[in-house]
Amino acid sequence: DDKPTELRAPPTPSRGQSRSRNSSINGRISADDFEFGRVLGEGSYSTVMLAKHRSTGQEYAIKVLDKGHLKRNNKLATALAEKNTLVRLGAGHPGIVHLHWTFQDEWSLFFVLDLARNGELQSRISRLGSLAIPCARYLTAQLIDALDYMHTKGIIHRDLKPENLLLDDDFRLKLTDFGTGKVLTAGAERSKTWVGTAQYISPELLEVSETSKSSDLWALGCIIFQMISGRFAFQGLSEYLTWQKIKQIDYTFPDGFDEQAKDLVEELLVRDPTQRLGAGPPGSANDMQALRAHPFFTPIRWDTLWTDPAPPLE
Ligand code: ADE
Repeated sequence: DDKPTELRAPPTPSRGQSRSRNSSINGRISADDFEFGRVLGEGSYSTVMLAKHRSTGQEYAIKVLDKGHLKRNNKLATALAEKNTLVRLGAGHPGIVHLHWTFQDEWSLFFVLDLARNGELQSRISRLGSLAIPCARYLTAQLIDALDYMHTKGIIHRDLKPENLLLDDDFRLKLTDFGTGKVLTAGAERSKTWVGTAQYISPELLEVSETSKSSDLWALGCIIFQMISGRFAFQGLSEYLTWQKIKQIDYTFPDGFDEQAKDLVEELLVRDPTQRLGAGPPGSANDMQALRAHPFFTPIRWDTLWTDPAPPLE
């Protein structure tokens, strides 16, 4: 049911003019089909750039990965895995950055992605200090809807954090960076690799290096805490001390933290991965439906979640 991995370029409108000198002649899309703009973000192996598709005028975010750098660090498989994950996710969900095309040249791999013009949620939280409850609620609901879709497709993100939550033109959420994503093969509910960012890593990842869909729910709890309080749930003076706090589930809510949000976070930051809200099999008392039905989400209209206007970002 996967889409072909080599996605084809749209037909170039023929208006009689010749195509640019280096434009591909085999009908495939290439870097010359785009006008590259400013840098939107930078990772260890990649740079995301604003790019305008010349013939349609459509703007995208293009992730450019340095092949030499990837090879030297044995990360080619990781890049390929990210592409496969994105292809598998397809255009099936408004809350997940869609991969439109991929191509390469001698030096780089290019992933043409949806542009999320309002950038990373992390920089919004930093600028605002924290988010108002209606805003945190709305973004949390969108994140849950995107996670549910992803998990249904057998994909774990494994590095959920506000840097990977982008905001589009309408301030709706778009999940990105599947560079550490994992496709669970049939029958495998857990995977044994260790990835993630210190503050959002779950206890089971620290203790037994075992990840499952539920590790994404732990990160969700950390993100809700951070959106509302403006600080990390778990933060020590060093990475090691942060891990100690995670293993002991040692965190405290600031005064005035919304009561329903507090209850929700407490149901997510649970040591046993199977007991987290949203982690149970469909029909169980802690399935995804139960997560959506949590009192914190009472004002949310799940059926019109992606068409309702976003509350003002404040
Ligand atoms: N930064 C990283 N990825 C991005 C995207 N798809 N859109 C906008 N900014 C980004």
